[in-house]
Amino acid sequence: MVRATIIRVLNSENLASLRGMKKDSCNIIVAEGLFAKNKIGRFVVELLNRTPTSCVIITDSTVKKLYGSILVQELSRIARTDLITLPPGERSKGFSQCTKILSDLAKLGLDREGALILLGGGVVGDIGGFAASIYKRGVKHVQIPTTLLAQIDSSIGGKTGVDTEWGKNQIGTIYQPAGVLIDPAFLKTLPRHEILNGIGEMIKYGVTSSAKIFSELEANDIESGSDITHLIEPCCKIKARIVSKDPNDFGIRSTLNYGHTIGHSLEAASNYTMSHGISVLVGMISEGWLAHELGLFQTTDFLRQEALIKRLLRKDSLLNLRMSQNRITKFALTDKKNASGKLRMSLPERIGRMHVTKDGSFKTPVPIDLLKPSIDYAKNVLSVA
Ligand SMILES: NC(=O)c1ccc[n+]([C@@H]2O[C@H](COP(=O)([O-])OP(=O)(O)OC[C@H]3O[C@@H](n4cnc5c(N)ncnc54)[C@H](O)[C@@H]3O)[C@@H](O)[C@H]2O)c1
Ligand SMILES: [Zn+2]
Repeated sequence: MVRATIIRVLNSENLASLRGMKKDSCNIIVAEGLFAKNKIGRFVVELLNRTPTSCVIITDSTVKKLYGSILVQELSRIARTDLITLPPGERSKGFSQCTKILSDLAKLGLDREGALILLGGGVVGDIGGFAASIYKRGVKHVQIPTTLLAQIDSSIGGKTGVDTEWGKNQIGTIYQPAGVLIDPAFLKTLPRHEILNGIGEMIKYGVTSSAKIFSELEANDIESGSDITHLIEPCCKIKARIVSKDPNDFGIRSTLNYGHTIGHSLEAASNYTMSHGISVLVGMISEGWLAHELGLFQTTDFLRQEALIKRLLRKDSLLNLRMSQNRITKFALTDKKNASGKLRMSLPERIGRMHVTKDGSFKTPVPIDLLKPSIDYAKNVLSVA
């Protein structure tokens, strides 16, 4: 069974001994200042369980400028290291970019005992993880996430993939990384709107899995940028626990997809001009309304969720919400939770508790004719005509 064990490295003493590392797990190390401690090479060797024959870093051009040369320098201490750079943003997460990565890996001569090191946000992590899973039938990879969203969500759990013209993440694999190195210090260079994207997924953890995280977010001044880095580790723990129970996403893992049926549809329908986290926040308003309409989501909690999300979303981030309802619906119908052409979503009952159907499923059937009103509801609440 794939396990995703959290290891917290608190200080340099623990860093030296790497206590708690488990050999049959995807080890996740959360440590402030990890990247600056000149120890990355050693961590990578520990996580891979061997010294790689060579390393190839995949990153995007923004992250490369900030951290690329440090990482090349660090990894060159353990093995020959090359670097592949993508343009930043969701448009790099396509099949053609993946083909290019694969041919670059072949040109660089990466063999099956080499390693991919994925330095960047969820885009680099998803497409790089996909390439790792299919190149020579699979090479080991380590995730070094540099956005809040990637640190608390996309780098953990092994979901990889690319977007297609018929929808988001429609092609991909579930392929666990050898390990994840999370340094909250990366967030110091992250623009404010990217922090908001990550807070979107934090609110999702609150609604789906932890009333405590939700209350902490409510109590924080999140809209004006208060420090939420202390919530990174609790979010990673939730993700690790759920993925360990359901690595292949046939059961409880689908609860982490709350807000994503409509969220992914908004991203795709806007040609990816709406970011993932913002789309998921809007998606939670719509899907929260659906859950309430179906008599599942308790009214007070439904309104609490709406109030918290409204605090974060500014008009300028929502301009692209004025898109055609038909396009949104078309993409919602391609969602991977659907079965036999029927729309299914993971929906909440309370803050911190998801609905389970009578037959024990976390995916609730949703009448298709409620889809449009649910999007209208979100537009109305967010005052987007
Ligand atoms: N695999 C999963 O389980 C999973 C879960 C959630 C989201 N996702 C995917 O993740 C993607 C979104 O990820 P994202 O929000 O990280 O977007 P992203 O990877 O596009 O990064 C956002 C922007 O931040 C920049 N950036 C990254 N780190 C930086 C840093 N430290 N300082 C300054 N700039 C930095 C990047 O260059 C980019 O422009 C989506 O494709 C989504 O589908 C996957
Ligand atoms: Zn997400």
